[in-house]
Amino acid sequence: MNHPLYDVVAADFDAVNKLIVQSLSSRVPLVEEIAHYLIEAGGKRLRPLLVLLSANACGYQGKEHIKLAAVIEFLHTAMLLHDDVVDASELRRGRKTVNAAWGNPASVLVGDFLHSRAFEMMVEIGDIQVMEVLSKATNTIAEGEVQQLSFLRNAELDEASYMQVISRKTAMLFEASSHSGALLAGATPEEVDALQRYGLHMGLAFQLVDDVLDYQGDTAELGKNVGDDLAEGKVTLPLIVTMRDGTREQAKLIRDAILKGGSADLPAISRTVTDAGGVEYTSRRAEAEAQKAIECLAGLRESTFTEAMENLAAFTVRRNT
Ligand code: IPE
Ligand code: IPE
Ligand code: MG
Ligand code: MG
Ligand code: MG
Repeated sequence: MNHPLYDVVAADFDAVNKLIVQSLSSRVPLVEEIAHYLIEAGGKRLRPLLVLLSANACGYQGKEHIKLAAVIEFLHTAMLLHDDVVDASELRRGRKTVNAAWGNPASVLVGDFLHSRAFEMMVEIGDIQVMEVLSKATNTIAEGEVQQLSFLRNAELDEASYMQVISRKTAMLFEASSHSGALLAGATPEEVDALQRYGLHMGLAFQLVDDVLDYQGDTAELGKNVGDDLAEGKVTLPLIVTMRDGTREQAKLIRDAILKGGSADLPAISRTVTDAGGVEYTSRRAEAEAQKAIECLAGLRESTFTEAMENLAAFTVRRNT
């Protein structure tokens, strides 16, 4: 992405993008074809950006943060390949999803390839603390995805359970990005803790906004279809709040849609979650998480990197992409 957020680590970021492409090599042409298709569609690369900013904020002088950033983008991309199968999504990064273009088996298997390539590269870095953070994170993310599956079409889901799911499935990788960047840099325990917590709150803000955008976003800007959550009966905070705080009729409309699944009622549901305050509540909660993330930066020496992290938190809640 061409955005001033990336400027303070521009040279590192270019190196990460090059390494990502170089690291896709496979003996099997179909692997390369599919991996290039998705990776070259871009994406925001926010998690690698977090790795670079965190390592630099802690004064890192080595070169392994480039590889670590690529590892994390591969883990993320592998999860997207699996996620789009699970969510039956058809658009990603402005292109047909891999499952839509090649089928579910290819998407699952190339996801496995990227996941395991990430682990090969992580072992090359050879930092046992980083390995511990990343292996635990990927395990937690998998649990979060299964937990979310177990909650599908459950109209009784409450805010606390929803927050637990998103902290696992999404915030964990943001947390692991800033946490591992700090560990790699040999940061002090205080810096490591501040950056770990920064990533967690950033990740929560990020998913809260993602869940608003699934009702209020624009497909062309997002590069993915709106309404996918409703279609699969996924109960996110805008719906939870509408059932909790809305009128009896508003609550019933949402409850019926959750039980029924499908996105036929999307326009009416989107209007209702806005009218009942579900969108506003979720957006406020995202802003509060972004604010918490910014407060964590007080534990670090001020620099252009911490300034960029502050802007990144603000961007996360303003984004429409
Ligand atoms: C999508 O993440 C998955 C979620 C956690 C919502 P991004 O929105 O960061 O995806 P890309 O990499 O920019 O496409
Ligand atoms: C993504 O959640 C979480 C992952 C672990 C991949 P979503 O299912 O909401 O992500 P999008 O909206 O498809 O990008
Ligand atoms: Mg999805
Ligand atoms: Mg999903
Ligand atoms: Mg989503």
